[in-house]
Formats: sequence, structure tokens, C-alpha cells
Amino acid sequence: MTLTNLPPSLIPTLSGEYYTDPAVFAQEQERVFEAMWFCVARGSDLAKPGAFRTFQVGRESVLVTRARDGSVRAFFNVCRHRGARLCTEESGEVKRAFQCPYHAWTYGLDGRLVAAPNLTSMPDVDRTAYGLAGVHVREWLGYVWVCLADEPPSFEEEVQGAVVERLGDVESIERYGVGGLSVGRRITYDVRANWKLIVENFMECYHCATIHPELTEVLPEFADGYAAQYYVGHGAEFGEEVRGFTVDGSEGLDRIPGVAEEQDRRYYAITVKPQVFVNLVPDHVIFHRMYPMAADRTVVECDWLYLPHVVESGKDVSRSVELFDRVNRQDFEACERTQPGMSSRLYAGGGVLVPSEHHIGEFHTWLQNKLDVGPAR
Ligand code: FES
Ligand SMILES: [Fe+2]
Repeated sequence: MTLTNLPPSLIPTLSGEYYTDPAVFAQEQERVFEAMWFCVARGSDLAKPGAFRTFQVGRESVLVTRARDGSVRAFFNVCRHRGARLCTEESGEVKRAFQCPYHAWTYGLDGRLVAAPNLTSMPDVDRTAYGLAGVHVREWLGYVWVCLADEPPSFEEEVQGAVVERLGDVESIERYGVGGLSVGRRITYDVRANWKLIVENFMECYHCATIHPELTEVLPEFADGYAAQYYVGHGAEFGEEVRGFTVDGSEGLDRIPGVAEEQDRRYYAITVKPQVFVNLVPDHVIFHRMYPMAADRTVVECDWLYLPHVVESGKDVSRSVELFDRVNRQDFEACERTQPGMSSRLYAGGGVLVPSEHHIGEFHTWLQNKLDVGPAR
């Protein structure tokens, strides 16, 4: 059931079951998260060979590590012998190999099968063919992106293309030197809401005046409800009295040298579907990854990135971090307040989008084109 006979100012949203139905979530896992480029870790999380992290990507567990040659590798976290989960920890470090805790098949950091009980008596077992199954990996902006598809979509078109669509060109983000920045703070949020509510929230600023008093103080144009994501190439300008992108508008940290004059004193926001949000301000970059865990639960990992000397010198970044940490909490609280409504019978036909939210309708169409579950609009 969808809303019909809407006035021209309003267009329909997805119906409630898109946010609650496990069958919809299962298709999203398969056709979105396992099919697209999915950002997992910061390269510096895997500082040296043998450091690893594990992630849920769609329905799969993925093991990401750094090999001896310094390259990042990603594998299905599944033993090739009889399928035991190889690493059960979320992060850690091995010396030179991953050993399965079941029958001790042992894999090098490059995934090759290097040892197993009685392996020498099975000379016909190919060490590569029975090594860990790799998944595609790319590094960009200092982050590790994986793709579980056999034939991954073009990284340039899908990931970098999303930045170009928003900023006009890829140089506009490269000027921030995101790959060379250091993590000054990381906060992980466990949000009791469907991942799409978080995406939709990030795409609009109709809520800014209501729930983000600190943000609209710093970016006065946000009080009008038009998000920085609404116009191509537009960055919201800092208020006249504002000295930096901080919780009280006080001075920020050292400005990133590559940032162009026209990018100074401006805030840019980018959504890279399906699960990354990037925020650019002159002295730091805020980088969100969402990990959809269930139809009603999403873990969000957020990094605040600064020039390396700012982090190394121990400068106080707390006022800087606090601004977007508050914004995040305000946003996630709104998403959590919305999630229960998704299963209300009142929302079976969905809700409506006002003109400043109409671009969210494109996100809905994009998603529906990937799925063949859920009611027709
Ligand atoms: S299942 Fe891993 S060694 Fe047997
Ligand atoms: Fe918000």
C-alpha cells in the first residue's frame, strides 16, 4: 500500500516494511553490501604485517590484514578445511600466520596454506588453491574498501564517482590529503535503527534547525533546511563570528595546507552509497562507516582525522570532536525514535518527503532497482 493523491510538494517514502522486514534486509545484504564496494578499516588500523580486523560484510565475515610486502589483503574468514571461522576476535595481531583453532590448518598473511597436520603426506594438495579465498581490496583516502563480488563494479565510477557527483571533481577531495591524515579520535555508535534511516538522515537538513543547535550556530544556512548535499559543489559557509568548526565556534586546529581558498571556512558533506559519509572542513575530515548488522541495528564507526603533527603533539581536539559527536548523537537518537514507527500500521504505506528532501526519493529508487522484494511503489 502506498500513499496516493499527494499534493505536488510531497512525494512518498518507502513503506515501513523496508525498514523492518528481514527478507528485505537479506536482499540488501546480498545485492548491496556483498555486491558493492564496502569500506571497512582505516589503513592505519593494520599498522604492521599480521595486524588484523574482522568485519561483517553482508552475510559474510571478512578478515582484513597486512601482508609482509606491506599490502592490505582481505579474505573470507572461513577455513578451507571444514569451514570453521578462522579469527573470532574483532581485531588482533598474529606473528606470521593464521592458524585455524579446529584442526590447525595454517595460512600465511598472503592467504597461502603453509602448514596443516600431515600436509606433507598429501603432496597433491595445492597450497594456493586451498589457501584462504581472497576478496577484492582497494585503498583510497587511507581507507580499505572490499568487494565480495566475483566481478566488482568499477571503483572509479561507484566510489570516486559519488564524490565527483557531489563536489564536481575528484581533486576537490584530494586537496584534503585524507590518506595522509591521522586519526585523532574514533567513536563507535551502536544505533538501534535501520541503515537507510541513517542514510536518509544524513542526506537532508530539514531537521537541522530542530535537533542541531550547535551545528546551525556554526553553519547558519543550515537553519533554512537545505543540506550541503542539496547543491553540487556547494559547501555551507561558516557564520561570520565563527572561528573554527568546533562545538562553540572557537578556533579549530591547523588548516590542511592543500585546501583551496574557496574551500576555506566551508563544510562539505558526501554520501558514498551504501555506507560511507565524509565531512570536509578546513582543519579536519570526519569519516563515517556504517556496518548494517540487522534490519533494526547499525554500528557506525566515525573517525576524526587531523594533520599528523596535530595528533602527535597531543593538541586538544576535544572541542573539535565534540561538535560532530553531538551531531551524531542527535541524529542517531532521531533515527532510533523513528525505527519503532516503521512497524506501525500507520506507516504501512510510508510517509512523505518535502521538497528539500525530494533527493532522498532518488536513493529509494536506486535501492528498489536493486531489490525484488518489498511492495511496489
Ligand atoms: S576447520 Fe579449520 S582446520 Fe579444520
Ligand atoms: Fe543531522
